[in-house]
Amino acid sequence: MRFDILTLFPEMFSGPLNTSILGKARANGLLSVNLWDIRDSALDKHRIVDDTPYGGGAGMVLKPDVLVRAIESVPHSAQAPVIYLTPQGKVFNQKLAEELAREPHLILVSGHYEEIDERVRQGWVDLELSIGDYVLTGGELPALVVVDAVSRHIPGVLGDDRSAQEDSFQDDLLDHPHYTRPYSFRGKEVPQVLLSGHHELIRRWRLKEALRRTMLRRPDLLERRNFSKEEKDILDEIKKEHYKERR
Ligand code: ADE
Repeated sequence: MRFDILTLFPEMFSGPLNTSILGKARANGLLSVNLWDIRDSALDKHRIVDDTPYGGGAGMVLKPDVLVRAIESVPHSAQAPVIYLTPQGKVFNQKLAEELAREPHLILVSGHYEEIDERVRQGWVDLELSIGDYVLTGGELPALVVVDAVSRHIPGVLGDDRSAQEDSFQDDLLDHPHYTRPYSFRGKEVPQVLLSGHHELIRRWRLKEALRRTMLRRPDLLERRNFSKEEKDILDEIKKEHYKERR
């Protein structure tokens, strides 16, 4: 899969893109990420990329001619969806990450401090994404978040493909708790069932704890979910346990 990222600050990307899983995926050729400095598309001698807003007011606006030239200079740009990172966008989540991972090529546009000219949004941007309801200084970190979350779904990027399937949010459930050695740590022991070697009991315990965790921390996720008979039974068990605890 290929990403082209348009930014005024390409240097912000090198650490995350060259480290750990993303670094390896790039070295293996599973992932290609190209950075383009928007300023290279400014043709004047001062390489100006922004201008004051029509109508007045604070802040600057990224010039449409410069930004569109930058987008159109990406090889094969006409075939790739263009995504603009903005707090006004659709809120990014695991489902969108999976869907975007099916695209062979994405172009990400990161603004900085300032807005882009509305006409670029209308004519050249296919999707606007926000990584959450807070405002960052620019779209660089959001672009990295999108590259990271999407790349995990490219086959072969995670050492063990099961890891992506067992993530939190897969199936609208948070992940179950995890334990490793030592068995006893500062007076706290690992749940016995995990030592039993009984695969079916372990599977059911993990499902139950994933449901419990989701119910307690993110009940909103459960509201939109369809439950199997087994899951409904487990939810009843959990509710009874919590009811007993409260009495
Ligand atoms: N740019 C600034 N804040 C942002 C956010 N929350 N999501 C996406 N892009 C942004």
